[in-house]
Amino acid sequence: MSTVHPAAHRIALFGDLLDISAPPPAGQPLDAPPLGVRWRPAHWLLVEDGRIHAVQTEAPDATWTRHEHPGRLILPGFIDTHVHAPQLDVIASYGTELLDWLNRYTFPTELAWGDPAVAQAGCEAFVRQLLRHGTTSALVFPTVHKGSVDALFSAAQARGMRLLAGKCLMDRHAPPGLLDTVDSAERDSLDLIQRWHGQGRLAYAHTVRFAPTSTEAQLALAGELLAAHPGTYLQTHVAENRAEVEWVRSLFPFARSYLDVYAQHELLGPRSVLAHGIWLDPEDRVRLRETGAVIAHCPTSNTFLGSGLFDWRGHAERGVRLSVATDVGGGTSLSLQRTLAQAYQVAALQGQRLDAYSLLYAATAGNAEALGLAQEIGRLEPGLVADLAVWRWSDDDSVLAQRLARAESLHDRLFAWLMLGDERLLVQTHVAGVPQL
Ligand code: GUN
Ligand code: ZN
Repeated sequence: MSTVHPAAHRIALFGDLLDISAPPPAGQPLDAPPLGVRWRPAHWLLVEDGRIHAVQTEAPDATWTRHEHPGRLILPGFIDTHVHAPQLDVIASYGTELLDWLNRYTFPTELAWGDPAVAQAGCEAFVRQLLRHGTTSALVFPTVHKGSVDALFSAAQARGMRLLAGKCLMDRHAPPGLLDTVDSAERDSLDLIQRWHGQGRLAYAHTVRFAPTSTEAQLALAGELLAAHPGTYLQTHVAENRAEVEWVRSLFPFARSYLDVYAQHELLGPRSVLAHGIWLDPEDRVRLRETGAVIAHCPTSNTFLGSGLFDWRGHAERGVRLSVATDVGGGTSLSLQRTLAQAYQVAALQGQRLDAYSLLYAATAGNAEALGLAQEIGRLEPGLVADLAVWRWSDDDSVLAQRLARAESLHDRLFAWLMLGDERLLVQTHVAGVPQL
């Protein structure tokens, strides 16, 4: 942490602390919190210089500035591992599947971000909305325009947020105003890496939009950039929609599969996050496990765009690293509660069950692990950065309140909260201890 806001020097938050250091093993009884679930009601969380200093039941002395939230839930900040900053303007757009959706809604909106003033206003609104949903970190797609990356990193830096992003690489199959070239992509990427990567809590992510919008030469460039710049990430989409998969097959006839296009260009590794992955085959799953690449499950997007049902358990059992993500604006909400509720329902449609602890783990410590950031974010533990959110369990006179009154265990309570709650229950978001709202 290079800078810490003076207001965060020494603060103490009081409330009901919950974090999950490991998901419960399958089949574990859920009536009492299993190992790895830390439920610490009526505790103090002490934050010094942006980091968690201690968790305790005794009230701290007068040198600590108190923020008291009796009866409220304090969770690690949510982490969104795949989201598009410009797409808040097209969220909830009617009537299309992926490829038509991109042409009809998404590309026109992203074109407008060629104007740096539009990108700046859009990024400030986007970052504010992340925080208003209790999300403190994200891996984000801006647009092809260099100015959109400057705008996004500036907005995150002003808040001290841990944010990963990079300019979209796309040199074909999009409107002219959204295209770069191999040369301009290299120039812009190098300039952005030099100015932003490793500045405070920011990191650069080479952002291949998806295989159809990059030439082989540009995919090769992305692979070279990833290898040449330690600590940078790779983000893209893979095997989301059946028509898209067919298109990739015709564009890259030499590749065994969609995933193989990325493998052949050295784009798969432990810092690679590929969204969707619905239409992968067993060999692809082996490849994912071997390379340590992560599939970001985007359940509200996959259902909204009619893309398909991602097989969470099938991937997890085969050792594929997984994360969860909103994928706004194909996704329908920036809320991780809404995203987890949809993940539960997508699993249920396949005869699977995701318990509330595993769901909450996925959106916090699990996503932190997927991004290689488990030693910084995702848990309420001394030494980690104090990125967290304070939530109401329910609002008065609500269905959730009625349901919680009957809850029989912490799991029952948390499950109902995840299924029925959303950003309207948020009280405050803290980034490195500093209140943001
Ligand atoms: N594939 C390529 N671009 C996009 C995008 O913006 N959203 C989604 N969901 N899939 C994509
Ligand atoms: Zn996406």
